[in-house]
Amino acid sequence: MERPIQASILTENLKNNLNFVRSLANDSKIWSVIKANAYGHGIREVYAGLKETDGFALLDIKDACLLREIGWAGPVLLLEGIFAKDELNECYEKNIDIVIHHSQQMSWLSQWLNAMTFDQQTVVSQKICIWLKLNSGMNRLGLNSQEYLLCFKKLRDYRLKVNHLTHFANADEIGLEPSVESQMNVFAKVIEDLSGDVSTANSAAVLWHHNTHFDWVRPGIMLYGASPTGISEDIQIFGLKPAMNLSSKIISVQDLNEGDRVGYGGQYTATSKIRVGIVACGYADGYPRVVSNGTQVWVSNSNSPSLGFYVKTIGRVSMDMITVDITNHKTIGVGSDVELWGEHVPVDTVAKCANTVGYELLCAIAPRVKRVVV
Ligand SMILES: Cc1ncc(COP(=O)(O)O)c(C=O)c1O
Repeated sequence: MERPIQASILTENLKNNLNFVRSLANDSKIWSVIKANAYGHGIREVYAGLKETDGFALLDIKDACLLREIGWAGPVLLLEGIFAKDELNECYEKNIDIVIHHSQQMSWLSQWLNAMTFDQQTVVSQKICIWLKLNSGMNRLGLNSQEYLLCFKKLRDYRLKVNHLTHFANADEIGLEPSVESQMNVFAKVIEDLSGDVSTANSAAVLWHHNTHFDWVRPGIMLYGASPTGISEDIQIFGLKPAMNLSSKIISVQDLNEGDRVGYGGQYTATSKIRVGIVACGYADGYPRVVSNGTQVWVSNSNSPSLGFYVKTIGRVSMDMITVDITNHKTIGVGSDVELWGEHVPVDTVAKCANTVGYELLCAIAPRVKRVVV
């Protein structure tokens, strides 16, 4: 038997979350964001759950090609555009839309188009659509307003379809600068006289800033049932459900006496007789090493597997194992099923104990963890 850890990708939950986006942004199309290997879930693995989307947005051209291989014929958008001029050939062959966020990308595109005949340019204009990205205040990627207007004019001269995009820095938190409102004002001023579709909303804006939905929304984390704020309750109230269940089993049990220590560094000392379950999951699987004692884990009841108990981690997370206190649960033993995060333990709850957010834990699932679509 192989090591029991696995990430189950929950197709029905992905569908539920996508439907929820649709219900909130019912006048908009949806770019489902599947960068970082679909936030760690696997592009192939999420496809069945997300294929009712209007388009997929991602970073790597090889992932865009993978989508085509899987059979997706609809829109695909490279959120950071091209990283080198020669990628344009592939974008053209595979009908992939690109973001232009920097003038260097515009130069590559111009050089590429200038090497073509007028008729070839016409064919390109029917196959590739450009999304100009404005830096409206986040100061990461994006053209400034002068560059933006210049690029727009050039692209229109090539008869390309041009759309408009910006990204919010703080849609998940009120009171931080730049605010959604200030970024929206900057963006609106630049694009007010320009034709083309508009896209601004990430998950937080889909949920909490309905005036930002426009023609296309770009949800990522909410599709996977985790929260943009890192607070699980913020999304549970909307009925969003986890798309990944990270599960494993108890592979050993230790009975300890008062004063015995657990694991590397002896970080936990038993204050009475305790039973400790050893779970086949460690930091080499993507479980965060920094979590504190007391992080929630759910273990099923061997006598009645649909029922279970919340138990807590004790001692240091090691490469391949964690240790949990099962003293009060006699029905838990070797072979008991364990959920590290998923339907009983929100990934955001574990992330909080590691001083981070669910995004990071999901994306960090290690390649050695088998993903299974259910
Ligand atoms: C440009 C862009 N749009 C949309 C998203 C989706 O964001 P979220 O996962 O917060 O919904 C991201 C992710 O960082 C992004 O970079």
